Amino acid sequence: MKPDLLRVAVMASGSGTNLQSILDRCRDGRLKAVVCVVISNNSDSYALERARREGVETVHWSEKKAGSAKAFADGLLAILRRTGADLIVLAGYMKLVPIEVVAAYQGRILNIHPALLPKYGGKGFYGIKVHEAVLAAGDTESGATVHFVDAEYDRGPAFLQRTVPVLPGDTPDTLRERVLAVEHELLPDAIAKFAEHYQRGSNARIEMKSPNH
Ligand code: GRF
Repeated sequence: MKPDLLRVAVMASGSGTNLQSILDRCRDGRLKAVVCVVISNNSDSYALERARREGVETVHWSEKKAGSAKAFADGLLAILRRTGADLIVLAGYMKLVPIEVVAAYQGRILNIHPALLPKYGGKGFYGIKVHEAVLAAGDTESGATVHFVDAEYDRGPAFLQRTVPVLPGDTPDTLRERVLAVEHELLPDAIAKFAEHYQRGSNARIEMKSPNH
C-alpha cells in the first residue's frame, strides 16, 4: 500500500478556479489528497495567489525563465521529485508538458478540457474559442473531459467526462460558465478516482478506458 494521501502537483497558467475546487475539497476532507506544489509559467497567475493563501508551495517556472527547453524539463522534473508528486494535474495550463516529464509520469498526468473530447480539442481550441465553436456547430450538448496527457494537446485517453446541455439563447460566455461549474466537480472527482486506483497499486489508465464511469 502507498501512503494515504495522494500528492498532487498542479500546473496552472490562469485564474485557477479549478485549482481552488481541488484545494477546497482537500481542505474539507472530501478529497483524500494533498496539493504538494502549484507550478505556473505565468508569474501573474492568480492560481499562485490561491495556493499561497492555502499555504501551498508555489513555483514560477517557465521555459523563458529556464533559458532552454532542456533546462525547463530538467528543472520541472526536479521540482516534481523534490515535492514527492504522485500525480500531475493540469488545471488551465496553457503550455505543452515536456516529453521528458510525460515519459517520467506516464499515466500520471491529467488535464481538464472544457469540451467533450475528442471534439473541440487540440491546438487553437482553448478558452472561449471552444465554446464559440460548439455554438457555431449547433451542438445540443457540450461538457468537460479529464484525460491523460501525452505529448500532444488534448490527445491522451479520456478518464472522466460529464455533459451539459446547450440551451437556446446561449452565448459563448453562458456556455463557458455552465461548463466551468461542471469542471469544478469533475476535476476533484477524477483525482479521487485516480487516487482509489493508485492506492490499490492498479494502473488507473488501463482500467479507466471508457469515460462516464
Ligand atoms: C478551464 O476551462 C479548463 O478546462 C481549461 O482552462 C480553464 C482554466 O480555468 N483547460 P481556471 O484557471 O481553472 O479558472
